[in-house]
Amino acid sequence: MSEAMEAEFDTVAEWTATVAAALGPQYYVPAGCRGSGSPAALDWLIENLRLRPGDELLDSGAGVGGPAAYAAQERSVRPVLVEPETGACRAARRLFDHPVLCGSGSALPFGDATFDAAWSLGVLCTMTDQLALLTEQRRTVRPGGRIGLLAFVAHRAIPADVLPDNHFPTPQRLAGLIRDAGLRVEEQMTTADLPPIPDEWSERADTVEEALAKRYGHTEAWQLAEQQSGEIGKLLGDGTLTGELLILRGA
Ligand SMILES: C[S@@+](CC[C@H](N)C(=O)[O-])C[C@H]1O[C@@H](n2cnc3c(N)ncnc32)[C@H](O)[C@@H]1O
Repeated sequence: MSEAMEAEFDTVAEWTATVAAALGPQYYVPAGCRGSGSPAALDWLIENLRLRPGDELLDSGAGVGGPAAYAAQERSVRPVLVEPETGACRAARRLFDHPVLCGSGSALPFGDATFDAAWSLGVLCTMTDQLALLTEQRRTVRPGGRIGLLAFVAHRAIPADVLPDNHFPTPQRLAGLIRDAGLRVEEQMTTADLPPIPDEWSERADTVEEALAKRYGHTEAWQLAEQQSGEIGKLLGDGTLTGELLILRGA
């Protein structure tokens, strides 16, 4: 993993838990959503994955664990988190009471058909072994179970010096990966078409961000992480990237 990604997904992830823990429990979920962000996106996924109370949900590339905790709160599912960065694993354990396995989504330490459903949010573009992320979810979800994906997709070429460590698939490449993983698209939604983020959520996320900037703003890790997320914001803003929510099932 590159220095910038390590900064964002490991160092700053752990700092986020430190700051959220000091602010209080109502900040944990917005603080812990790093990439998938919006409650509307999570609601759409929960609804279209048809999650039911008690379902075991794999979150592959769970980061600090906010999305999984949101699903547990909203639908009483039982999440299991997998995340390769040890700082993020510690952060998720600190803020939430769900099992966290430190490992890669491309080689899951679970038997076949272990989970009722799985999701992977904002993860695909951060890794090279993209097909394995999907085939491992397909393998570990029970037959007929659904897989949710938030993928940032590139609609035109991105200059080589912008986010050089990300691997944004084109729509065609994403369709090919889904097909090669033996999956098909059941539902799809572009995140820009979802309802806006509620004020209360934004205020909490902003408070966490301000506290992080105050405490760690002078560090290189913070600046690298900010630069990285700022670039993604710009590419989403000018339409180079879109955020695509997908519900996948075995073909
Ligand atoms: C943009 S963050 C999203 C985190 C979380 N899903 C969320 O929405 O808040 C991308 C995450 O993917 C993780 N990641 C990178 N490579 C991975 C891999 N091979 N397997 C699983 N997760 C990976 C990163 O460590 C990081 O936590």
